[in-house]
Amino acid sequence: MKYFRKILRFAAPYRRYGILNIFFNILYALFSALSFVALIPMLEVLFQQTEPIAQKPVYTGIGQLESYVKESLYYELGAVAGEDKMQALVWVISLVLVLFLLKNFFNYLAMYYITFLRNGVLKDLRNAIYDKIVGLPVSFYSEKRKGDVIARITSDVLEIQHSFLSILELIVREPLTILFTILAMFFISVKLTLFVFIFIPLAGIIISRIGKSLKRHSDRVQREQGAFLSIVEETLGGLRVIKAFNAEKRFSRSFSDSTGRFFRFSNSLLNRQNLASPVGEFLGILVIGILLWFGGKMVLVEGSLNAASFIAYMGLSYNILTPAKAISKASYGVKKGNAAAERVLEVLETESTLPDPSDGKELSGFQSSLRLENVSFRYEDEPVLKDFSLELPKGQTIALVGQSGSGKSTIANLVTRFYDVNEGRITVDGTDIRQVTKASLRHLMGLVTQDSILFNDSVMNNILLGREGASPEEVEEAARIANAHEFIMQLPRGYDTNIGDGGNKLSGGQKQRLSIARAVLKNPPIMILDEATSALDTESERLVQDALEKMMKGRTSLVIAHRLSTIQSADRIVVMQQGQIVEQGTHRELLDRGGVYQRLVEMQQLA
Ligand SMILES: Nc1ncnc2c1ncn2[C@@H]1O[C@H](COP(=O)(O)OP(=O)(O)OP(=O)(O)O)[C@@H](O)[C@H]1O
Ligand SMILES: [Mg+2]
Repeated sequence: MKYFRKILRFAAPYRRYGILNIFFNILYALFSALSFVALIPMLEVLFQQTEPIAQKPVYTGIGQLESYVKESLYYELGAVAGEDKMQALVWVISLVLVLFLLKNFFNYLAMYYITFLRNGVLKDLRNAIYDKIVGLPVSFYSEKRKGDVIARITSDVLEIQHSFLSILELIVREPLTILFTILAMFFISVKLTLFVFIFIPLAGIIISRIGKSLKRHSDRVQREQGAFLSIVEETLGGLRVIKAFNAEKRFSRSFSDSTGRFFRFSNSLLNRQNLASPVGEFLGILVIGILLWFGGKMVLVEGSLNAASFIAYMGLSYNILTPAKAISKASYGVKKGNAAAERVLEVLETESTLPDPSDGKELSGFQSSLRLENVSFRYEDEPVLKDFSLELPKGQTIALVGQSGSGKSTIANLVTRFYDVNEGRITVDGTDIRQVTKASLRHLMGLVTQDSILFNDSVMNNILLGREGASPEEVEEAARIANAHEFIMQLPRGYDTNIGDGGNKLSGGQKQRLSIARAVLKNPPIMILDEATSALDTESERLVQDALEKMMKGRTSLVIAHRLSTIQSADRIVVMQQGQIVEQGTHRELLDRGGVYQRLVEMQQLA
């Protein structure tokens, strides 16, 4: 119930619909009971038990309510139908029909309004998870599988819809129907109704037994769903490698293992759940059987109940059966939905490990320098940076070089605050970046990542991500600086060409130049460039290099370079080894020194 309440909080904006639903449900429940009571006069007419009443009856108090209502009805009936039995029958039948019609009409209205609430909660829930997913730090996803997150936003939310939110439909209607029906049953016979009541708690106990283990079962099913979605996600991402290494069998085996488990788990869940309905129905009919025996005795032996009332009474008790069944099914729903809600809320309630400061201070611009001061950092246990200090003064280009795994990309991750340092601090103009909002920090920075990250959209929109609302001319200008304009014009639809999933329709060098164009369009004061390692042919290498040089001109840049030719004109080159600086200086100075840098240059020239 805890999770249910939390999910219900999402219903607050739709309260209005909830109130309308309750209102129409009250009417529905009332007419639902009345429509069965109205069977009595019809049956009495049929069984010729009615005596035409000549005098208008008078109301003598609540105790005589039943006979007063009945007599008034027969009096009116006599007035319109006279002695004509057939006509009286038509009248009472019409009464029954009208009552049933009203009952169903109000039922529809009640469901009509609750639909908006239900789907509204669903929409807001999905939006909230999506915002959370975007808001959580990237480190969250190195631990969680992407497929698991996808499962939570899709199938878990759907499960909540099916279980929790379908309960909303019943939550008011069914108890009210039961209440009104029981009132009507008391109205017909107090003795019989009290007798029935002995059996109701008994049935309740049996049904709740079955529901007990449903949450555990359901949790297993949902988790497995996350597992196989993860496999699908990875398969789609790595399809080329899977095919190239003939690994289809292996992946398909682990997928079918997962679906196999899903098959078993969901079979046992569904079968348990399916028990609910037959058990409920049988229990219901059992009660009715006992009722027939006890009530039949009252009619036949004692004569304390007339046959017409008894038949209507049977109708009423059947009227309880449907909502009772619905409630017992709903209670399974809550148990099942709990597992899904727990998984959804787990994401929603994850606190970001990189919170913005509470005062929400913003960086307004970049004046003097970006500094890393005695920074130590580790992703997990292994330290990646050790007591690392670096200054990036405004207007300069600093280049980071060093062997693979030495921690270069990590520095880009830290200054953009994708991760927080473990020790030391990073400052912009003397302000610790943890004391300002992430948005204002990132506003100052343009990032070209090591693996060009592009989206399945047009060239234009991919570049526009740099600055929303830029004009087509500005986009073209950025593309020219990035040496991308020419190849874009050769694409079938120019800037409107869709570049495929992750930019798959482009070559490696083209992708890089697009992501450079995107950063150029943003035109930030600080440029952070993690050059791609992928080997390019000389022509595209020259194009990319030229693009980088144009982009760095007149800006403050931190360039992580693999091709040393790119950075010969940098103001300072910092050589890293295992998370520490081993050398720094200009290209010339470092060459003269004849250390690590010189060896790196020689190696590349040989290659
Ligand atoms: N998300 C991560 N979780 C855990 N460890 C990581 C993560 N990213 C990187 N590492 C580790 O941190 C170390 C430094 O990685 P980093 O990406 O900074 O290297 P790099 O200098 O950019 O290398 P390259 O030249 O190959 O791009 C590596 O040993 C790597 O295994
Ligand atoms: Mg790297």
